[in-house]
This record gives sequence, C-alpha cells and structure tokens, in this order.
Amino acid sequence: MNFRIETLGLPPTAAERGQLVGLLGACVRGGASIGFLSDVTAAEAGEYWEGVVRAAAAGAKILLVARDESGAIVGSVQLALESRRNGRHRAEVQKLMVLPALRGHDLGTRLMAEVEALARARSVRLIFLDTSEGPGGARVFYEKLGYAYVGGIPGYALDPDGVPAKNAIFYKTL
Ligand SMILES: CC(C)(COP(=O)(O)OP(=O)(O)OC[C@H]1O[C@@H](n2cnc3c(N)ncnc32)[C@H](O)[C@@H]1OP(=O)(O)O)[C@@H](O)C(=O)NCCC(=O)NCCS
Repeated sequence: MNFRIETLGLPPTAAERGQLVGLLGACVRGGASIGFLSDVTAAEAGEYWEGVVRAAAAGAKILLVARDESGAIVGSVQLALESRRNGRHRAEVQKLMVLPALRGHDLGTRLMAEVEALARARSVRLIFLDTSEGPGGARVFYEKLGYAYVGGIPGYALDPDGVPAKNAIFYKTL
C-alpha cells in the first residue's frame, strides 16, 4: 500500500476531523500512552484535536498526517515550536500515532523523518520528546531512530489502563 505524508491543510474537513478522532481513539484503546485513558470519548478526542488545530493555525505547532491511497488519515505527528527567544532552536515532538492495523510498514519512521526535516528547515537544532516506560510506550522505537535517552520521572503519567508509569525522555540534535 502507498502512503503519503503531508502537513494537514487548515481548517480540516469534517471527514478529516472524524479520522483524527478515530486515529486517537484506536491508538489509546490499543494501549498507547499518549495522554488519555482507555475510556476516552469521541467528544474528548474531538476537543483535543480542536486545540491542536488552533495551535497549528496560530503557527505554534506543525501537524503532519499520513494518508492511505484513499486519502484517509492513518497516522500523525506534531511538532510543538518554542516561541520564546531563548529557545527557538528547540521543538517537541508530540503524539506520534499510527493506526494499529497499519503498524510495521515504516509509517512511524517516515513520520519522524519528515518531522525532523521540517524542524531542520526551520533552523530547529534540538528536538525532544517523551514516551511511557510502561507497556503503552515506544522506547525501543525511538532508540532505533537514534534518539538519546535522558532519563525518566517515576509515576509521571497513567498508562491508558490507569497504571502509573515512569516516562522516558529523549532528545536528538539535528
Ligand atoms: C510508535 C509507532 C508510531 C510506530 O509506528 P510503526 O509505523 O509501526 O513504526 P515502524 O514500522 O516505522 O517501526 C520501526 C521499528 O520500530 C519498532 N517499533 C514500532 N513500534 C514500537 C513500539 N511501540 N515499541 C517498540 N518498538 C516499536 C518496529 O518493530 C520497527 O522495528 P524494526 O525496524 O526492527 O522492524 C506505533 O507503534 C504507534 O502508533 N504506537 C502507539 C502510539 C505511541 O506509542 N506513540 C509514541 C509515544 S509518543
């Protein structure tokens, strides 16, 4: 299957909003620790994406999506830009997601490569992120992509099943 990765055009269509809500719900219900509990509702996810779209429209975030051949959104990642003058060289990668049924096809790797390319193009030289050390996390994935592990804070967040887990903080210099 062919996938393409692009910056989401704003404002998203109603269909795209629905796909983003579906993507987040599928990942969280599948156990991904990305800021929600497994009983996340469509309303909660919709409200979350509205905030992301507002931030993207304001230039504070870049929202990338992966689309399948039909154009449906099957993955996404965000780059949160720092506006303070002393930190404009850094940005945070947030909420990398690939639909559970489409994992293992390099989409996660491609989304990360594209977000890094966009960061470089904006003169961002330091990117950082965190993931869960628990079963909801993706520590090995980031290590494979060359991210340096910094450490973690015990009990930082609840995994979707409600169990507190340490986070794992990573960075990469570009
Ligand atoms: C993390 C995630 C985006 C990876 O997407 P993907 O499209 O399956 O990733 P890729 O196909 O590019 O995988 C690259 C490698 O990382 C490994 N990998 C993928 N997800 C992994 C995970 N959660 N934990 C450990 N390793 C993982 C793959 O096995 C593959 O290894 P290989 O090269 O030896 O075969 C996907 O698993 C996902 O959406 N997880 C839920 C959300 C999440 O955990 N996000 C990150 C925290 S912010």
